[in-house]
Amino acid sequence: MSKFQAPKGVSEYFPGESARFEFVRNSLIASAKGAGYQLIELPVFEDTELFKRGVGESTDVVSKEMYTFEDRGGRSITLRPEGTAGVMRSVIEHNLDKGQLPVKVWYSGQFFRAERPQAGRYRQFYQVGVEAIGANDPELDAEVIAVAWRGFRAIGLKNFRLDITSLGDAQSRAVHKADLLNFFEGLNLDEATRARAAINPLRLFDDKRPEMQAAMKDAPRLLEYLSPESSAHFDRVKELLSEFGIPFVVNPMMVRGLDYYTGTTFEFVHEGLGAQSGIGGGGRYDGLMAQLGGADLSGIGFGIGVDRVVLAAEAEGLFSHDETLRTGVDLFLVALGESAKAQVSILLNSLRDQGISSDMAYGDRALKGAMKAADKSGARFSLVLGENELATGEATLKNLSNGSEQSVRIRDLGPTMLALSAQRGD
Ligand code: HAM
Repeated sequence: MSKFQAPKGVSEYFPGESARFEFVRNSLIASAKGAGYQLIELPVFEDTELFKRGVGESTDVVSKEMYTFEDRGGRSITLRPEGTAGVMRSVIEHNLDKGQLPVKVWYSGQFFRAERPQAGRYRQFYQVGVEAIGANDPELDAEVIAVAWRGFRAIGLKNFRLDITSLGDAQSRAVHKADLLNFFEGLNLDEATRARAAINPLRLFDDKRPEMQAAMKDAPRLLEYLSPESSAHFDRVKELLSEFGIPFVVNPMMVRGLDYYTGTTFEFVHEGLGAQSGIGGGGRYDGLMAQLGGADLSGIGFGIGVDRVVLAAEAEGLFSHDETLRTGVDLFLVALGESAKAQVSILLNSLRDQGISSDMAYGDRALKGAMKAADKSGARFSLVLGENELATGEATLKNLSNGSEQSVRIRDLGPTMLALSAQRGD
C-alpha cells in the first residue's frame, strides 16, 4: 500500500528537529513577554472579508495566495495568511481598546499562503508576532524592533541586518501618490499593472520584472515626501535604535507585501538564506483599525518566520551547543526481570510526582538493549534495578555524559536527583 505524505510545501518538526524549533520559538516568545506583551490566541480561520479589507486586494497574499473555502453554512472562510488582521478583529470585537493603551499582545502559530514552495517558503509556516495598539509613539516603534532584535540575539543569530524606512502619514502619502501617478503616466503600463497601481501605487516598487525595476529607478521616493511630523517621528525611531546599539540600514526601496503599512516599516534580512532571506518584518498601521470598523487607533507590530529563523540558525552553526537543545529526561530507569519491572513502574510514577523528569525502558529487552535505549534517550542519568538492588535498597546511578558512577539509596532517589539538578543550577 502506498504511504501517505504530508501535503506539499508544509514544514514539520519531529523529535530530533523539534528541539531546535522549540528553542527558536520560545526565545522569540520570551523576548516579547519580557517587554510586557501578553498572549492572544486566535482562530486559524476567519471571515474572508477580514483579510480582503485588512491586508488589501492589491497584495499577492490576498489576490493569489489565500486558502479560501466555503463552510457548510455557505460562509466564505480563509485560513489566516498573517496575524495582524485577526488581532485587530479581536481587539475591536472584545473592546480591548477601551482599556489601558497600548494593548500589547504576542501570538505564535501556523499561517497559510498558497505560495510556490521552496527552501524557506512554505504553504503552512510558523510565525511569532507582536502587536502594540493605541499609541502613536516613536518609543513604541523602537521597542517593537528591539523585541525582535533581542529575540534573534538570544538565539545567537549574528549575520542578519535590519532595514527600515518610513511610509509617512496620510498627508505625506497623498502628495507622494499624486507625483507617483503622474510619473506612471509617462510609462507604458499594461492593464493589470495599471489596475494594481490604482489600488496601491507603492506596489509597483515591488514588481520583480527587470523592465519594471529599471523603470521604477527614477520614480519619486516616499521617504522624500515625509511631512514634518512623520519626519520627526522617523528621526526619533532612528535615534533610539542607535541609543539601543541596534544597527540598521535605511532602505527607501523597501516594499512590504501587505497594504496596511504606514509610518515606520522594517524587515530583518538574514545573509545565509538565499532567496527567502526575510526572517521577520513589520511596521506601523495607522488606518487598519478604522478600516476594519474600529476606533481610529494606530498600531505597530512584527511577524517573525520561525521556520526561517531555524534555517538561519542552522546556517550559522548555532545548534552545535547541544545543552540548550537537550530534550532527554533527567533519569532513565532500567528494570531487570519481570518482578523488578513492576516495582520500577511504581518508583517511576512516584519520581514523576516529585517533579523529576524520568522515563524507563519498555518492552521486553535484555540489559544491553535497555542501556542502549537509555543512551539514545538523551537522559542525564541511568539506573539499573534488578532483584539484587531492590533487595538491598542500593543501586548505582550512572552519569551518561561522562560515565561516572555513584551509589544511591533507592529510597532517597527523589531528593538525590533534585540535589543533582540544583547543583547544575536547573
Ligand atoms: P510578512 O512580512 O508577510 O508580515 O511575514 C512575516 C514573516 O513571516 C516573514 O518575514 C517571513 O519570515 C515569514 N513568512 C512569510 N511567508 C512565509 C512563507 N510562505 N514561508 C515561510 N515563512 C514565511 C506579516 O505577516 C505581518 N502580519 C507582520 C506584522 C505584524 N506587521 C505588523 N504587525
